[in-house]
Amino acid sequence: MLNSKSQTGTIIRIAGPVVVAQGLSGVCLYDVVHVGQMRLVGEVIRLATDLATIQVYEDTGGLRVGEPVVSTGGPFTVELGPGLLGSIFDGVQRPLPVLRQQQGDFIARGGIAPALDRQKKWIFEPRVQVGDRVDEGDLLGVVAETPHLKHHILVPPGLSGVIEEIYSGSYTVEQTVASLQMERETHPLTLLQRWPARQPRPHRGKLDPTEPLITGQRVVDTFFPVSKGGTAIIPGGFGTGKTVLEQTLAKWADADIIVYVGCGERGNEMTDVLEEFPKLEDPYTGGALMERTILVANTSNMPVAAREASIYTGIAMAEYFRDMGYDVALLADSTSRWGEALREVSGRLEEMPGEEGYPAYLLSRLAEFYERAGRVVCLGKGPEPSRGAEEHTPSGAPKGGGSRGDLLSSAPLPPRSPARIGSVTLIGAVSPPGGDFSEPMTQNSLRVTGAFWGLDTDLARRRHFPAINWINSYSQYKLNDWFNQQVAEEWAGQRQRARALLQREAELQEIVQLVGTDALAEIEKGDLAVGRLLREDFLRQSAIGDDAFCPLEKTYWLLKVILSFYDYIAEALRQGTPLEQVLAHPAVDQIGRMKEWPPDTAASRAQELLKAVDGRHT
Ligand SMILES: Nc1ncnc2c1ncn2[C@@H]1O[C@H](COP(=O)(O)OP(=O)(O)OP(=O)(O)O)[C@@H](O)[C@H]1O
Ligand SMILES: [Mg+2]
Repeated sequence: MLNSKSQTGTIIRIAGPVVVAQGLSGVCLYDVVHVGQMRLVGEVIRLATDLATIQVYEDTGGLRVGEPVVSTGGPFTVELGPGLLGSIFDGVQRPLPVLRQQQGDFIARGGIAPALDRQKKWIFEPRVQVGDRVDEGDLLGVVAETPHLKHHILVPPGLSGVIEEIYSGSYTVEQTVASLQMERETHPLTLLQRWPARQPRPHRGKLDPTEPLITGQRVVDTFFPVSKGGTAIIPGGFGTGKTVLEQTLAKWADADIIVYVGCGERGNEMTDVLEEFPKLEDPYTGGALMERTILVANTSNMPVAAREASIYTGIAMAEYFRDMGYDVALLADSTSRWGEALREVSGRLEEMPGEEGYPAYLLSRLAEFYERAGRVVCLGKGPEPSRGAEEHTPSGAPKGGGSRGDLLSSAPLPPRSPARIGSVTLIGAVSPPGGDFSEPMTQNSLRVTGAFWGLDTDLARRRHFPAINWINSYSQYKLNDWFNQQVAEEWAGQRQRARALLQREAELQEIVQLVGTDALAEIEKGDLAVGRLLREDFLRQSAIGDDAFCPLEKTYWLLKVILSFYDYIAEALRQGTPLEQVLAHPAVDQIGRMKEWPPDTAASRAQELLKAVDGRHT
């Protein structure tokens, strides 16, 4: 985060996290500065003749007018390189465990520890030779960062030239591993690169969404899928399950890399993550889940301005891995705390407030952030990466089978594309006060995102989890073709039927509330019964236990059984069988236990059950 050029100014005003300094001539907007004797880290957010307004990432208590402010001469940058995976950072990418070791649980202000370990050595294997011509984004070599993931060292954006020297062997992130001759200048290259966090990393162009991010959550995968490279928000009132859902996605989503940004949430929730994640196994590789995870923890007791920065810290790291050709998912809990940080700083700047005190630029900031999602053609040539040194084995499939490998095994492999393609999927929780979705953060977020998973206070109160409201949630991603081809031809048809049934159930329930069940025809009572099966035995899914991840194939069979049972009910009622008798069918009990089926037995057990319901099905 430090640069050599530096100028000094003096503090003339302090208002919470906002400090005004005089005399910092030559400083640029968004330059990082060190404030006061304590050298608190801050960022210039406004410049007027000779006055620089600075947001300070740390508690400004005890800071006094007259103390010095020193510019580092550059913007807020993140460090990128081997060692990111498995790390836990604060909002400005300081490694929390290292800070804690140095300073104890109470992290002293002004503490500077580099993001990446300076001592650790990594084995670098070059992939180019002296004399080769390389351009920005080209692969220089690889580091096996974890047993399951190769970290690709790429030519940084903006550089190209001829390789003058390149070495294989064991290096720290700061040692030169190669040098590049460019316009008669030599550029030494290290495993460590820096990038200004607020600036999107370049790529060659965005691609249409074609593939879902598989979440293992039936309600999401079936009704409201998000594409790889897509964006989704999870708005929900207090205690409706936003954090549990974000953490569930962090565990099960089929991304190569997860960046989890805990932004302004309670410290104990982050502690849960920190304690739980290192014990978990990655369902796709069988390795430790933390090996594919980067945590950014900026809890509610940490300073407000760092919270504002934390989502940029997160996304810059996500883009860096995208550029290697990986699928990355960034989960942010909660973007509302980021919005509040923006509001607080804007208030201190005495800017003209927009709706509910948020700055007028809230929408454009949100749009810029979500715009950084996408499935892109990466800079540089070179093959798409494989996750590990060897392709991962199916032995690491989610408990009971059903990994991506299994699912896709029957599909023809697409021709190997010469382009490198990577993606960043962004999923942000939103915490509207009182669960009122008309507030500015929810409204502005939904304008710039593709999927809306609205959490419902009523459902949460009735302990229906995930509490995603299946009536008002939506996804704009058209992924039916993918599901039809990769899982089952009937996928989209089933999905449509199930949604219509749930809609019908909601309408009938309104009638029942007004006039009671007596007003309903038998077939309508049948609709209600099936609606209940869909809710209880399909949509409901505990985040704890074996049902926490449901492979697509199992999801498909569960829905098929329920819909076939609906056909059976409709037919029996037509033939005059009383509903009570129809619902006494032993299949109802078995449908209630389908969720417990080990995934690899789902197909055979579903077929048995279908036979029991109706001999015609096989
Ligand atoms: N999928 C789930 N399975 C089982 N229980 C759940 C699930 N989702 C939420 N819960 C229950 O709901 C509680 C509240 O969830 P959570 O903390 O995620 O809510 P939140 O929306 O993040 O709340 P806050 O607004 O306080 O941040 C959890 O402690 C858990 O008991
Ligand atoms: Mg929460």
